[in-house]
Amino acid sequence: MATPLDRLAFVASQRARIGWFFGQKLLAARMSRPVPLPARLRQRLQGRPVADRRRILADLLALFEQDWRNIEAGWYAPPRDGLGSPSAALRRTIDFFADLAAVEARRQGAAKERLIETPPAGTYPPYYLQKFHFQSDGYLSRASAERYDHQVEVLFGGGAAAMRRQALVPLRQALVAAAGRRPGDRPRLLDLACGTGSFLREVKTNWPRLDVTGLDLSAYYLEVAQRNLRPWSRVRLVEGAAETMPFAEGEFDVVTAIYLFHELPPRVRRSVVREIGRVLRPHGTLILVDSLQTGDDPDYDAMLDSFPALLHEPFYASYLREDLDRLLGPGFTPAGRVRAYFSKVLSYRRAPD
Ligand SMILES: C[S@@+](CC[C@H](N)C(=O)[O-])C[C@H]1O[C@@H](n2cnc3c(N)ncnc32)[C@H](O)[C@@H]1O
Repeated sequence: MATPLDRLAFVASQRARIGWFFGQKLLAARMSRPVPLPARLRQRLQGRPVADRRRILADLLALFEQDWRNIEAGWYAPPRDGLGSPSAALRRTIDFFADLAAVEARRQGAAKERLIETPPAGTYPPYYLQKFHFQSDGYLSRASAERYDHQVEVLFGGGAAAMRRQALVPLRQALVAAAGRRPGDRPRLLDLACGTGSFLREVKTNWPRLDVTGLDLSAYYLEVAQRNLRPWSRVRLVEGAAETMPFAEGEFDVVTAIYLFHELPPRVRRSVVREIGRVLRPHGTLILVDSLQTGDDPDYDAMLDSFPALLHEPFYASYLREDLDRLLGPGFTPAGRVRAYFSKVLSYRRAPD
C-alpha cells in the first residue's frame, strides 16, 4: 500500500529526473544546428499544428501521473530508476555531450555517413547496418551500448523508463491469465530486441522468479543487459534476429517488443509477426510499446513526420502508416491500448490454434 511519503519520494525523484534529462535535451538542442529538411517534407509540415514545449512537458507530467496511479493501484512497484551515483551520472552526461559533435556532423553530413560500412564480425541483416538516431556505431559497439540509455532518456526528457513501465500493467494481466490457464506451470516471457535490458530489469524488479529471455541482434547491447540483470536468476540472453528466432514453437506465454517495430522495414515487420505467432502459446499475450502513429494525436502528427529526417529513422515513415491491428490480425486479437506520452502500449491475445 503506497503511503503519502511514497508519493512524495516518487514525485521528488521523477521531477529530479525530468529536470536532469529535459535540461540536457534543451542544452543539446541549443548546441545543434537545424537539420536541413527535404523540400517536400518542409512543404508537408507547413501550417500544421505542432505540440509546443509547454504541451510536451504537460504530456510528460501526465505520464508520471499515470505512472503513479498504476503504482498506487498495485500494478507495479515504485521504480528504482534513480540517476545512480553522482559520479556515474556525471560520467554518462560528459560522454553524451562529448559524442554530440560526431552526432551533429552525421546529422548535417552525407547520407553514406549514416550507414555502418565496416561492421564488426557477425551476421547482420543489411537494414540493421544503419546508425539509427545518428548514433555513433549504430547498435554495434560497446560505447554505443553504454551510451544508449542516457541518450534515449535525453531524447524523451526523462520519460523513457516511465513509458516502458506502462507495459507492466498488461503484463500483470497476462501473467494472471497464464496462471489461470496452467496452474502450477512457470510462465515464460520473451522480450524481443531487449537492448540493454531496461525493460527486463523492470520486469524482474516486480517478478523476480519469472523466467525471462531477452533477444537482440547486438552482442554489445546484450553485454550491458547481462550486467544490468546480474542481480537476478532465471534470465537468458540470446543473440539473434527477431525474424528468425532460435526458439521452439509455443515456448512463451508472453512476448514483449519495446521500440522494435518502428525500426524494421515493412517486410521484416511481417516476418517478425509470423515468428511471434510461432513462439507464443495459443491464448498467450503480445505486448508492444512503440511510438505514436499518424492520427493518434493530431498535435503530434507533424512532429512524427519530421522524425525520420531529424532522428535518422529509415523505416519510421512506413511504421507511422502501418495499421498494427491489421498487421497482427487475424492471428492476434486486440486486448488493450493505452497512450504513454510519445508512445502507446498495445496488447494482443494470440488466437487458439
Ligand atoms: C530502439 S532499441 C530498443 C531497445 C529496448 N527494447 C529498449 O526499450 O530500450 C532497438 C533494439 O532493437 C534491436 N534490434 C533491431 N532490429 C532487430 C532484429 N531484427 N532482431 C533483434 N533485435 C533487433 C537493436 O539491436 C536495439 O537493441
